[in-house]
Parts: sequence; structure tokens; C-alpha cells
Amino acid sequence: MPNCISNICLATLVICCFSLLLTQSLFAQANEADRLSLLAMNSWNNSINLCQWTGVTCGHRHQRVIGLDLRHQSIRGFLSPFVGYLSFLRSINLVNNSLRAEIPHEVGNLFKLQNLTLTNNYFSGKIPTNLSRCSNLVKFEASNNKLEGEIPAEISNLLKFQILNIAKNHLKGQLPASIGNLSTLQEINVNGNRLSGRIPSTRSHVRNLISFNVGLNQFSGMFPPINNISSLEYIFIHKNRYHGSLPLDIGVNLPNLRFFIISGNNLTGSLQDSLSNTTNLHKLDINRNVKNQFLF
Ligand SMILES: *[C@@H]1O[C@H](CO)[C@@H](O)[C@H](O)[C@H]1NC(C)=O
Ligand SMILES: *[C@@H]1O[C@H](CO)[C@@H](O)[C@H](O)[C@H]1NC(C)=O
Ligand SMILES: *[C@@H]1O[C@H](CO)[C@@H](O)[C@H](O)[C@H]1NC(C)=O
Ligand SMILES: *[C@@H]1O[C@H](CO)[C@@H](O)[C@H](O)[C@H]1NC(C)=O
Ligand SMILES: *[C@@H]1O[C@H](CO)[C@@H](O)[C@H](O)[C@H]1NC(C)=O
Ligand SMILES: *[C@@H]1O[C@H](CO)[C@@H](O)[C@H](O)[C@H]1NC(C)=O
Ligand SMILES: *[C@@H]1O[C@H](CO)[C@@H](O)[C@H](O)[C@H]1NC(C)=O
Ligand SMILES: *[C@@H]1O[C@H](CO)[C@@H](O)[C@H](O)[C@H]1NC(C)=O
Repeated sequence: MPNCISNICLATLVICCFSLLLTQSLFAQANEADRLSLLAMNSWNNSINLCQWTGVTCGHRHQRVIGLDLRHQSIRGFLSPFVGYLSFLRSINLVNNSLRAEIPHEVGNLFKLQNLTLTNNYFSGKIPTNLSRCSNLVKFEASNNKLEGEIPAEISNLLKFQILNIAKNHLKGQLPASIGNLSTLQEINVNGNRLSGRIPSTRSHVRNLISFNVGLNQFSGMFPPINNISSLEYIFIHKNRYHGSLPLDIGVNLPNLRFFIISGNNLTGSLQDSLSNTTNLHKLDINRNVKNQFLF
């Protein structure tokens, strides 16, 4: 029936689909109470236009959902794979809810998605490899969840990627070397996981990195090869297993350094000369390294 592929037909289908999706399926609910609380809290009901629902933003022209902002809503349940049908979504913010289970790999169908913010939930399982298909992704924040497994190396396919914050999860394995290919990267925060190994050499394209936070993991080896990324303002490598001497010229090529937190490793060295040029230095923590080895 070719007529049924008309725009109107499709539009109706899509709107019906959305309304169904968003009320019933987007957060597949554990029980009726959850569903009711979701409806109550978000005033999501079928009597008002979808685009007026709390937390839903639609595009002006096409009236398709482009944003979901449902932070601090006490939503329980899990994020439904149907989210992958909201193909105009540019931003998903679910900060501070009680969502659990895996991040559905169908998010990989959201080619317009720029920001995916899942901070403070109970998401578990692996970071979906398919996230690397969201070619417009700029920001992925999922700190303070229960994510496990390794960080997918395919993340380096994201040519616009700027912010990776997956602190406070249960991730293990190494930091993928391919991250060194992400020239747009500004912030990497993997603090408080179970990551190990060496930080891959940034013989690299990472030239815009502002914040490097790998604290509270099990990284080992010599001081990570980040001391010539001159854009760096924040370095947190505390509580790992780094040893050996700091690079002699640490700081010389880091004129913008503001925080230098390296406590709780086995590092030695001298900071006196090289840090004299870091005029913005605001906080320095070198405690709990090899005793009395730091010379000023
Ligand atoms: C639907 O939501 C609107 C706006 O919050 C509210 O005024 C109305 O009473 C709701 N209708 C039902 C049937 O719950
Ligand atoms: C999380 O949301 C709850 C309400 O659901 C609010 O009381 C609490 O302050 C929020 N926590 C944060 C860290 O924003
Ligand atoms: C994504 O987040 C950034 C802030 O980090 C914001 O400036 C930008 O407008 C957001 N994009 C969308 C589509 O919401
Ligand atoms: C990823 O996307 C592809 C293509 O849509 C799909 O076939 C696959 O099942 C998805 N999921 C995983 C886990 O790869
Ligand atoms: C970085 O990108 C180049 C070119 O696309 C590729 O040949 C290389 O294997 C990548 N490096 C890593 C570590 O993924
Ligand atoms: C950092 O230094 C290495 C050699 O030590 C060099 O290959 C690399 O290109 C430098 N990176 C930047 C961003 O300058
Ligand atoms: C520092 O080195 C000592 C001796 O090799 C070792 O016992 C200790 O675990 C190391 N500490 C850290 C934080 O790596
Ligand atoms: C500090 O900067 C000045 C000028 O930018 C340079 O001549 C000097 O060598 C630098 N000091 C160190 C310790 O690198």
C-alpha cells in the first residue's frame, strides 16, 4: 500500500509511536508504582502535546524530540532500547535518577546525539561499543554508575569527542591507545575505577586536553607521557602505582597547569626548576610518595 508511506501516515505513526514510547517504554518500569511516579513527576500524559511534556524539547520546524532532560526525577527502571528510535535526539540528560541495567546499544542509532549524560545512576554492564557510531557525540558522562568491562577502543572513531567522564565505575583493563587519536578531546576523567597498565604514549594528536584525571586506579610504570600537552590545566594521577623519577622538564611545557596532584604513588624527582614557569599553579599535592625524595 504505497499510499500509506505518505508523510501524514508516517507522521501519525511516529507521533503515536513517540507517545507510546515515552510514556510506557522509554523507561521500562519495574512496576506500576514506578510508572505512575514517572507520569506524576513528569506530567507525562496523553492529554497534552508530547512536546510540552516536562523534560521534552522538540525541534521548532519538525516537532521531533531533540532533547530529553530528566535529571533529578527519581526515575527507576531501565532505559529502553526504544530510545534508539528517537533519531532526532541531540541531548539526553538523565543525571541523578535510579536507572539500572545496561545502557542499550541502540543508542548507537542516534546519529545526531551530542551529549549523553547518565551521571549518578546504577547503569551496569559494558559501555556499548555502538556508542562509537554516534558520530556527532561530543560528551559522554556516566560517572558514579556500575559500569564494568573495558573502555571500547572504538571510541576513537568519534571525531568530535571532547568530554569523557566515566569516573567512579568498575571499569578495568587499559586506557585504549586509540584515545591518543582524539584531537578534539578536552577532558578525560576515569578516576576511581580498576584500570591498570600504562597510559599509552601521546605521540599523539591529543593537543587540546585540559583535564587528565586517572586518579584512584592501578596504573603503573613511569609518569604518564602527558608532559608536553601544553593545554593541560589539571593533572590528577594520585593513588596509582607510578614509580620512578618525574620527567626533568615536567612543567616546562605545561604553562597552564593549575592542579598537579600526584600523591600516593612512588614517584621521585625535583620540581624546583621546572615548576617555576607554571605561574597559574593553584594546588600541588605530592604527598605519600617515596619519602623525602622530592627536592625543591
Ligand atoms: C495531564 O497533565 C496536565 C499538565 O500537568 C494536567 O493539568 C492534567 O490534569 C493531566 N491529565 C491527566 C488526565 O492526568
Ligand atoms: C538527586 O535528586 C533528588 C530528587 O530526586 C534530590 O533530592 C537530590 O538533591 C539530587 N542529588 C543531586 C546530587 O543533585
Ligand atoms: C551539550 O553540552 C554542552 C555543555 O557541555 C552545551 O554547551 C551544549 O549546548 C549541549 N548540546 C546540546 C545539544 O544540548
Ligand atoms: C550495534 O549496531 C549494529 C548495527 O546496527 C547491530 O547489528 C548490533 O547488533 C549492535 N549491537 C552491538 C552490541 O554490536
Ligand atoms: C590512529 O589513527 C590512525 C589513522 O587513522 C591509525 O592508523 C592508527 O592505528 C590509530 N591509532 C590507534 C592507536 O588506534
Ligand atoms: C610529545 O613528545 C613526543 C616525543 O617525546 C613527540 O613525539 C610528540 O609529538 C609530542 N607531543 C606533542 C603534543 O607535542
Ligand atoms: C611503592 O613501592 C614499594 C616498594 O617497592 C611497594 O611496596 C609499594 O606498594 C609501592 N606503592 C605504590 C603506591 O605503588
Ligand atoms: C621559563 O620560561 C622562560 C621564558 O618563557 C624560559 O626562558 C625559561 O627557560 C623557562 N624556565 C624553565 C625552567 O624552563
